[in-house]
Amino acid sequence: MQQIAFAAFVALSIAGVVSGLDNGLSLTPPMGWLAWERFRCITNCTLYPDDCISDKLFRTMADLLVSQGYAAVGYDYINIDDCWLSKERDANGRLQADPERFPYGIKDLAAYVHSKGLKFGIYEDFGNFTCAGYPGVIDNLKLDAETFASWDVDYVKLDGCYAELVDMETGYPEFGFHMNQTGRPMVYSCSWPAYQTEKGIDPNYTVLAQHCNLWRNYDDIQDSYASLRHILDYFGQKQDDMGPFAGPGHWNDPDMLLIGNYGLSLDQSKLQMALWAILAAPLFMSTDLRTIRPEHKEILQNTRIIAIDQDPLGIQGRIVYNVSKIEIWTRKITPVEGDQYSFAIAVASRRDDGYPYRIQVPLKDIGLTNPAGYMVQDLYGDETETLLVPESLIDVRVNPSGTVFWRANIVVSTPSVTKIK
Ligand SMILES: *[C@@H]1O[C@H](CO)[C@@H](O)[C@H](O)[C@H]1NC(C)=O
Ligand SMILES: *[C@@H]1O[C@H](CO)[C@@H](O)[C@H](O)[C@H]1NC(C)=O
Ligand SMILES: *[C@@H]1O[C@H](CO)[C@@H](O)[C@H](O)[C@H]1NC(C)=O
Ligand SMILES: *[C@@H]1O[C@H](CO)[C@@H](O)[C@H](O)[C@H]1NC(C)=O
Ligand SMILES: *[C@@H]1O[C@H](CO)[C@@H](O)[C@H](O)[C@H]1NC(C)=O
Repeated sequence: MQQIAFAAFVALSIAGVVSGLDNGLSLTPPMGWLAWERFRCITNCTLYPDDCISDKLFRTMADLLVSQGYAAVGYDYINIDDCWLSKERDANGRLQADPERFPYGIKDLAAYVHSKGLKFGIYEDFGNFTCAGYPGVIDNLKLDAETFASWDVDYVKLDGCYAELVDMETGYPEFGFHMNQTGRPMVYSCSWPAYQTEKGIDPNYTVLAQHCNLWRNYDDIQDSYASLRHILDYFGQKQDDMGPFAGPGHWNDPDMLLIGNYGLSLDQSKLQMALWAILAAPLFMSTDLRTIRPEHKEILQNTRIIAIDQDPLGIQGRIVYNVSKIEIWTRKITPVEGDQYSFAIAVASRRDDGYPYRIQVPLKDIGLTNPAGYMVQDLYGDETETLLVPESLIDVRVNPSGTVFWRANIVVSTPSVTKIK
């Protein structure tokens, strides 16, 4: 019976042209804090009481999201990743949290997160085990979806370790079906394309957009500029395949923000924030909010850049220029007039000759053709606006492995006239 209902569900969703997952969630890319990149699978709370994956860590980060102003600028999810589980299911076959590290259970933690005005996300794995070896969902799809709903979970990331590739394109939608049947709206983050691309298989983005709110396209991000560049190169090379499938409710996910950790310089941190905004990427910090430096916090809380990421059109940006190790990425944003868009423009340097490199490119060469021009603002500078027309040059100096990031708001040539009926 469940299988028949599921088959009908799949048939229905495929009939509805290019439409994304219809759960009303993530109309702009989700934002929040996710444990994995920084805190991994630290489970010894005797040895590392402040760093271990525990109730305390998530309550502390929830407190800081609110008290340090992150929630106010949009970071509203607190998400657990791997290593929260007990190695055994309970007597009724249900998932349970590690009893020592999560002594009050997940429902209580979710209630705490909700009491702070935040939303709560959890992690599981489609296969036999999670990547770190805890129980997976494969034989318990319905039960586990119901368990998450009963704990008031708002977001589920489903990883793909210990699973067969051939099962994923049907299995992930099946778990999504059971999530839907619980009646509790939960954001669904799917990892299956990352496992396909690892094996050289091109993901079917039509299916992804129909069943998932976001999906991890490619490798896990690690704490280095090399890892960041590796992911950006993939997103640049595959932009025609994946870009069109981003939009309200369904997003490509280049993985977490490294900002605030060990591996990126200040310039590289600015570059990640700018490029993630260009890509309409989910913005999940994974850093220690107790000890973050003010200059990193300032990048993460740059509201003008967050506004680019969260632009309501949800159009993913593209690399449009790549010469002499200088890349220009643009993203179409609001306001729009007729067929003319406003733009975010990131000039990104991958040079390492140690001086700020000058580039000069006419706006019209990168697709900015609005005759009346654009009011341009430097998103890492002050709020001064400069009028540039299509023939004007982008004339900037870019730091090695850094970025110059602009917003170019369209200028409307004729004042709009109020129509009288
Ligand atoms: C945690 O670390 C302590 C100190 O090194 C060690 O004695 C203990 O066995 C570890 N606990 C676990 C569960 O590994
Ligand atoms: C999952 O477990 C089943 C049952 O033990 C086994 O047959 C299957 O090969 C496992 N799959 C993977 C991908 O490990
Ligand atoms: C379940 O799916 C239906 C059909 O797509 C949708 O209208 C509804 O909002 C979904 N409900 C939840 C809780 O996701
Ligand atoms: C993707 O999956 C859909 C639905 O199963 C199918 O119609 C379409 O042909 C697939 N696209 C590709 C490129 O395989
Ligand atoms: C830019 O060009 C370089 C050299 O051809 C290439 O390695 C890199 O991947 C390109 N950048 C992107 C984002 O595609």
